[in-house]
Amino acid sequence: MEKIRVKGGSTLEGEVEISSAKNSVLPIIVACILCGDKNIIKEAPLLEDVYVICDVLKELNASVEINEVKRELTIDTKNLIPNSANSELIKKMRASFLIMGPMLTKFGHAKLSHPGGCNIGTRPIDLHLKGFKALGADISIGHGFVEAKASKLIGNRIYLDFPSVGATENIMMAAVYAKGTTIIENAAEEPEIWDLANFLNSMGAKIYGAGQGKITIDGVDELRPVVYRPIYDRIEAGTFMVAAAITKSKIKINGVNEEHLRPIIEKLKECGVSIDIVENEKMIVDGRGILKPVDIKTLPYPGFPTDMQAQMMSLLTLIKGSSIISETVFENRFMHVQELIRMGASIKIDGRTAIIEGVDRLTGAEVKATDLRAGAAMILAGLAADGYTDISDIYHIDRGYVNIEEKLRKLGANIERINI
Ligand code: UD1
Repeated sequence: MEKIRVKGGSTLEGEVEISSAKNSVLPIIVACILCGDKNIIKEAPLLEDVYVICDVLKELNASVEINEVKRELTIDTKNLIPNSANSELIKKMRASFLIMGPMLTKFGHAKLSHPGGCNIGTRPIDLHLKGFKALGADISIGHGFVEAKASKLIGNRIYLDFPSVGATENIMMAAVYAKGTTIIENAAEEPEIWDLANFLNSMGAKIYGAGQGKITIDGVDELRPVVYRPIYDRIEAGTFMVAAAITKSKIKINGVNEEHLRPIIEKLKECGVSIDIVENEKMIVDGRGILKPVDIKTLPYPGFPTDMQAQMMSLLTLIKGSSIISETVFENRFMHVQELIRMGASIKIDGRTAIIEGVDRLTGAEVKATDLRAGAAMILAGLAADGYTDISDIYHIDRGYVNIEEKLRKLGANIERINI
């Protein structure tokens, strides 16, 4: 079995390059369905989820070329065959449900395997479907499938009960070819929504206000192909910021957007970490000072991201005093707690709240990556723990981080991939 082994205690130094955002590139790849021509995505993060979504498009008969040297994807959707997506692939990755909006609006019909729940929660799709229905689609659910039909979607006003990232993206893509104007209210404001809209607008879509709570989409008849480079991954950057803090190190992180990182920067500063934007898109993070406990509540953007909750928890386990983390976005996102306790952390859970009492040291142990960000949290804890930490189920980590152990090794961490 492949594992990541970390020997704690090294101080980090040097520079790390941040990749493009996983959560931007996945919907952008899917949005290529809308264009029906050849698009090029530059600086694509070549991680497992990207290969899976490319396989989903190939199942639909898209031609997808992955140039691993240039980190470039060439996606041609001229000859798509609707409804040929393999249900196992769809089940493998929730984000593949994003093909429903583009397929429905382009072909008038989409039938997909129901994505179901996952480790971190039940993850319903009701808001996606509410949006498609408002645009005039007939929806039926049965035998493990979701089917949507509409001869032509018609623009409408849609209020989301919760600013869901996936629902906002799916509905926004469906509305691109809808007749007239669609307005999405209480839309998700994550930077990745802005990035998807920017990609679509560069192809000729008419989307206004993406990245804010109210998005207006004027339907168009066609899109033209483009060459596009997605934004930097704010969660990968945040993970390396915590790596500097937990190892009491000073490192330079290249490829950051200060605005997108604002919630993470502010929380780490409150902890006592020194953060300086030194030049355009570069930042120095210094965690060598005395750190203080903090309270965190995860919220939709611009609140503190749920995708950084586990990594911050690893850091807080080693900060003297009590910290409280409230997870309000997903109902079951504390699975890393048990793993951190195995390493000597002192954490109590009460519903969606975790109370962390800082301990003097963590000790290396055999732990699991229970999901993607929980896996990153285990690596971070391992960097600061006494002795060796062996992390299993690392396929979760590979889904969302490009060469994380190589990037950390370059900074001086003692980390390797082993087969035992
Ligand atoms: C995206 C991100 C994920 C991140 C999450 C929240 C991608 C590929 N993934 O996931 O990394 O953790 O945003 O920032 O971009 N909900 C409903 N009904 C729906 C849809 C969602 O109730 O129809 C609820 C979910 O159960 C959850 C909350 O909304 O409690 C947030 O989910 P959502 O924003 O949709 O997350 P994803 O788009 O799946």
